[in-house]
Amino acid sequence: MSGKTANYIPGLEGVVAAQTRLSRVDGQKGELIIGGYPLETLAPNASFEEMIYLLWNSALPTALQLESLQNKLATKRELPFATLDLLRNVAKTRAPVMDALRMAASTLSLSSEVAANGDDIDADAIALVAAFPSIVAAYWRLLNGQPPVMPSTDLSHAANYLYMLTGETPGEAKARGLEIYLNTVVDHGLNASTFTARVIASTASDLVSAVTGAIGALKGPLHGGAPGPALDMVFEIGQPDKAEPYMRKLLNNGERLMGFGHRVYKVRDPRAEVLSQAAQAMYAADGDMQLFELVKHVEKVAVELLDEYKPGRNLQTNVEFYTALLLHGLGLHAELFSPTFAISRVVGWLAHCFEQQQTERILRPRAEYIGETEKKWVAIGDRSGKFSYV
Ligand code: ACO
Repeated sequence: MSGKTANYIPGLEGVVAAQTRLSRVDGQKGELIIGGYPLETLAPNASFEEMIYLLWNSALPTALQLESLQNKLATKRELPFATLDLLRNVAKTRAPVMDALRMAASTLSLSSEVAANGDDIDADAIALVAAFPSIVAAYWRLLNGQPPVMPSTDLSHAANYLYMLTGETPGEAKARGLEIYLNTVVDHGLNASTFTARVIASTASDLVSAVTGAIGALKGPLHGGAPGPALDMVFEIGQPDKAEPYMRKLLNNGERLMGFGHRVYKVRDPRAEVLSQAAQAMYAADGDMQLFELVKHVEKVAVELLDEYKPGRNLQTNVEFYTALLLHGLGLHAELFSPTFAISRVVGWLAHCFEQQQTERILRPRAEYIGETEKKWVAIGDRSGKFSYV
């Protein structure tokens, strides 16, 4: 063994690998700033199209600028033939939605629009953002034996996604509930998928490649993936008086309560509060308030129990807990939770790509070599058959 260096940091934890004006995460204060605004100010007030403009231009749009962006997005919602064809074939294999999204996103560079505008990053980014809801909705319907619904050009980005999933124009409360969710998760520092997108962008590769790689990173269960199990837990609890015994049993067995704890946040995740309020408004207008009350109760008991079982760990509610409630209230199946997250986060990935492109510096860290250095060459006939998968 040789070549040992002192500064290997597993997981790059705490390593500053980029500078950004897009979002700042303060895990001690429980603060999330997006594009200069506190999340609590931005998410409940902005439309998702305003969030897109803000992240890509570092300023909120004027009415005219917003209208222009809305029109550009609306006209790019229809999927290219090659993409729809691929989705039809993938649906026959019943592949998970995130896999279908990854495969379909990569076909967008086949569309004449993206190919023709290879140098026009604005057009490519618009085409990607506009296509994500169409891909997810079309694939979901194909998986369920239904024909895809053609996108509407009149509805907002959020409302059109729900429309393409169900074939019905959503009510105001649901469209707004989804929009607040999309606003809330649009960007979150240098998380794994965003870092992936930046690495690809740093090689001066194209945006479709960067976004396709980022989907691959997001689909891993260590990155997304907790809202489904968090919702399962609430349904298994079923009624308020069962919350404490149910969760005590999990904790006594050394299991984790899904939707609680966070690597960065040591206080309540600020996104949990925004989503909890959005869920309350949505459920009050058009939903099962009994479920909402049960979720609030489960949260309260969970935080108390986590303090009792893991004192000093500061295990608080994370974004996934209320994501589950909100997306369930919109009628989304748990399999659609991660793809719906991607429909929002693709905007952040692209904004980070734009920032990375400005630096004109390839992201190229080092690896510490921990292998041998003085092995002797052995002729093929003299080698042992011992197999080592490294
Ligand atoms: N339930 C019970 N115990 C927990 C939980 C939890 N949800 N989270 C952490 N702990 C415990 C651990 O068992 C550990 O205890 P120990 O030191 O006695 O062994 C201690 O708290 C510290 O745990 P770590 O895993 O070191 O904390 P870390 O910061 O690495 O974990 C994580 C963060 C992975 C999110 C963790 O809290 C967890 O597994 N939560 C449940 C899954 C979840 O909700 N994931 C979504 C996170 S949000 C997101 O990804 C966008």
